[in-house]
Amino acid sequence: MQTLRTIDAFRAARSALNGKVALVPTMGALHSGHVGLMEYAQELADHVVVSIFVNPTQFGPNEDLDVYPRDEEGDLAKCQAAGVALVFMPPASEMYANGHSQLTFVDMTQLTDGLCGASRSGHFRGVTTVVTKLFNIVQPDVAVFGQKDYQQFAVLRQMALDLNMPVEVVSMPTVREADGLAMSSRNRNLRPEERQKALSLSRGLIAAWTAWNGGERDAEKLQRLVREMMTDAGANVDYATAVDPVSLQPLAGDDVAPKTAMIAVAAFIGNVRLIDNLRLDEPLPDALRDLK
Ligand code: PAJ
Repeated sequence: MQTLRTIDAFRAARSALNGKVALVPTMGALHSGHVGLMEYAQELADHVVVSIFVNPTQFGPNEDLDVYPRDEEGDLAKCQAAGVALVFMPPASEMYANGHSQLTFVDMTQLTDGLCGASRSGHFRGVTTVVTKLFNIVQPDVAVFGQKDYQQFAVLRQMALDLNMPVEVVSMPTVREADGLAMSSRNRNLRPEERQKALSLSRGLIAAWTAWNGGERDAEKLQRLVREMMTDAGANVDYATAVDPVSLQPLAGDDVAPKTAMIAVAAFIGNVRLIDNLRLDEPLPDALRDLK
């Protein structure tokens, strides 16, 4: 495994790879969810590239850029164990060096308006721009993203299609802890009592799934159920929204029996912002089945 910290050095190493290349973009503090993406990437390509870059432009001024967890040594060990060929790990000065004027952006409307886009102004512009840069640097055949950040995946898949980027954007289901908590780098910033409160996100999603599968189709009622479970546990709810899984548009309260639905949540547990989501019209994933 080679670790490259400049774009020039990365390009040189990349050009020596023959065959299909899969990219797993990350911000580091890697966990089993990230490793799951790497393992899936191995199945899809001859070589796996992981990028580790805490992208400042996708954090708002009052967000957690300064306390975002970092673990370079642990990250490289996990990449090595997962059989990764190249790790691209640039400092911010390399990705946004003097040559980058910060006048050019990739931006998307509509899909980025709701959910995390509504509460994190500018976040998705930072994500679409940095992922475009990563695609241009790495030139992957396929890029793998997690469904934990479902809106991000939907946005990036659409971006690649709309801009004819020669990369296939694929996704993998959410990897969870044994108690149902969706794995997240930010979980490292939870204190033990907060870690317990964080379970209310997945518990709320399971409650909505159970209600939906018992025939409940009123989006308002489903949302209220989830919101109350999170609030009662001491979470500060950002959103709990039932959406169409393709358009990500909210389902109206009086929607007549929608056939497909996803519920997406975001909440602050103390200062830590967590997100999760669940398809209501599909079987409960194995990782949540025993918790019902
Ligand atoms: P990061 O939060 O590090 O996530 C990197 C990738 O891992 C994303 O595709 C995310 O959806 C996936 N992931 C995170 N937790 C997961 C879990 N529990 N199960 C499955 N996949 C999971 O998302 C970002 O970084 C950044 O926005 C990035 C795309 C790298 C752009 O900066």
